[in-house]
Amino acid sequence: MKCNSLYGLAALVLFFAACKKDNAPSDVQLDDQLEQALLAASGGVGDSHYVLPMSSEFNKIPQDPKNPLTQEKVNLGALLYHETGMALIPKQNIGMQTYSCASCHFASAGFQAGRHQGISEGGSGFGINGEGRHANPDYAVADLDVQPIRTPATLNIAYQEAILWNGQFGATGVNAGTQLLWTPGTPKQTNTLGYQGTETQAIAGLQVHRMKMDDQVCASLNYQSLFDAAFPDTDPAIRYDREHAGLAIAAYERTLLANQAPFQLWLRGNKNAMTQQEKRGATLFFGKAGCTSCHNGPSLANMEFYALGMKDLFENPETTYGAGATSDSNLGRFSFTQNEADKYKFKVPQLYNMADSPFYGHGASFTNLRQVVAYLNLGVKENGTVPDGQLAAAFKPLNLTEGEVDDITAFLTNGLHDPNLLRYQPLSIRSGNCFPNNDTQSRVDLGCD
Ligand code: HEC
Ligand code: HEC
Repeated sequence: MKCNSLYGLAALVLFFAACKKDNAPSDVQLDDQLEQALLAASGGVGDSHYVLPMSSEFNKIPQDPKNPLTQEKVNLGALLYHETGMALIPKQNIGMQTYSCASCHFASAGFQAGRHQGISEGGSGFGINGEGRHANPDYAVADLDVQPIRTPATLNIAYQEAILWNGQFGATGVNAGTQLLWTPGTPKQTNTLGYQGTETQAIAGLQVHRMKMDDQVCASLNYQSLFDAAFPDTDPAIRYDREHAGLAIAAYERTLLANQAPFQLWLRGNKNAMTQQEKRGATLFFGKAGCTSCHNGPSLANMEFYALGMKDLFENPETTYGAGATSDSNLGRFSFTQNEADKYKFKVPQLYNMADSPFYGHGASFTNLRQVVAYLNLGVKENGTVPDGQLAAAFKPLNLTEGEVDDITAFLTNGLHDPNLLRYQPLSIRSGNCFPNNDTQSRVDLGCD
C-alpha cells in the first residue's frame, strides 16, 4: 500500500538519522555545539569576540593612540622589518648588513624563528624554513645576537599591550605604574617614551639587535620618500630616526593577523572550512578543556602571566648560546617586576600558526603540539625549580581521553593555521639585499645568488 511504504520510508529516514546521531554528530550539530561553547567562553558575546580583522581594516585593529595606523606607515614598516641593510652596528665586520628583525621572526615560520633559539648576527644559513641556521663557527659566542629564551611570534601582536615573555616593554596597561623599573641605560628605559609594548619593543629592538636608522642611513638605503609619506607632520630633523623607524615597524606588525585560518573562515560563515575533528577540538578548547580561562579573545591570549612549570632554554637538548640556569629570563614576569608572586610566570602566548615553527614553551621544550596538549592534560610540571605553589591553579589533570587530545591538537595544528602568511612578506627591500638573512650561506639557501 502506498501509505505503508511512505511510513516505511519515513521510518527508514528516522532510523538513519537516529543512527547518525548515536555514532557521530552531524556537521550541523558540531557547528551548534561549537557556537554554544563560543557563546559561553566569550561571556555571551559569541563569534565576534574571536574574529581577527582584515589587515586593511585599520579602524578595527587595536593600536597605540600615539601611533595611529596608516597605510603609509605599514608600507614602510613592512620593508624596514625585513631590511638587512639596516644591520649596521654588528659586533664583527663580517656581520655587516646580514640580518634583520625577520631573521628571528619570518613569515613562513609563523613569524617565529623556525628553530629553538633565534640567531641574527653570527648566524649562518637558513635551510628551508630556518631549521638550517646555525652559529657561524668563526664567531665568539659573546658576539652572537641570541637571547636566552625561545622567540615568540610577532603574529597577532596587536592584541598584546605589554611585550616579551616577561611583559617588560610598554608604558601602559599591566605596566602602568612601573616607572621605577624602567632602568636608565637599559632597553627598558624606552618605556619612558610612553608608547604601548609593540612600539616600545620595535624602537628598543632596533638598538638591541644592532640596527641603525638616521638621516644618512635613510638616504643611503633610499627610504626618504617612504618616511616622508609615513610621517608628513613630523619635523624633518627627527623624521628619519630610530624612533620613527620603530613606529613604522610596529604599525606593520599590528597588521600581521592570521585572518585566513580555517577557524577564522568558519567564524565568518564558511562552516566547511574546518573538518569534523577540528570542530570537535575547538568545542573542547572553548569548553570543557578550560583553555579559554587564559587563551581567549581574537588572538587566543590575554594579558596575564602564569607558571605552567615548563623547562627553560638552557635545558634544551639542542645547542643553545647564552642561556643558563641562572639566567634572569627563567624567572618570567619576576625578572621585570621583582615581585616574588611573579616568579616563573610567563605571558600567555597567542596560538595561531604554531605549527609553522615546531618549538613550544618559553624554553622550546616541546617539539610538537600534541606533546603540549598531553602535558597540559597530565598537569605534572617538568621543571623541578618551579615551586608547586607558583603553578597556575588551572594546571591540573584535565582527564581528557587520547581521542580528545588528538582533536584539540588538530584544532591547534590546522584550525588555527593561516596557510598564506607570505602575503605579508615584501617581494624586495630598498637596499636590494637578500632577506630575511644576507650572510653567504643564507644567500645560497634563499636563492639570492
Ligand atoms: C636574535 C633573534 C631576534 C631578532 C633579530 C629580533 N627578535 Fe624579536 N624576539 C626575539 C626573542 C628571543 C624574543 C623574546 C624575548 C623575551 O621575551 O625575553 C622576541 C620578542 C619579540 C616580540 C614580542 C612578542 C611577544 O609575544 O611578546 C616582538 C614584537 C618582537 N620580538 C619584534 C621584533 C622586532 C621588531 C625586531 C627587529 C627590530 C626583532 N624582534 C628582532 C628574538 C629576536
Ligand atoms: C592558566 C593559564 C593557561 C591555561 C588554562 C592554558 N594555557 Fe596554554 N599557555 C599558557 C602560558 C602562560 C603558556 C606559556 C608557558 C611557558 O612557556 O612557560 C602557554 C603555552 C601554550 C602553548 C605553547 C605556545 C607557545 O608559544 O609556546 C600551547 C600550544 C598552549 N598553551 C595551548 C593550550 C591549550 C590547548 C590549553 C587547554 C588545554 C591551554 N593552553 C591552557 C597559559 C595557559
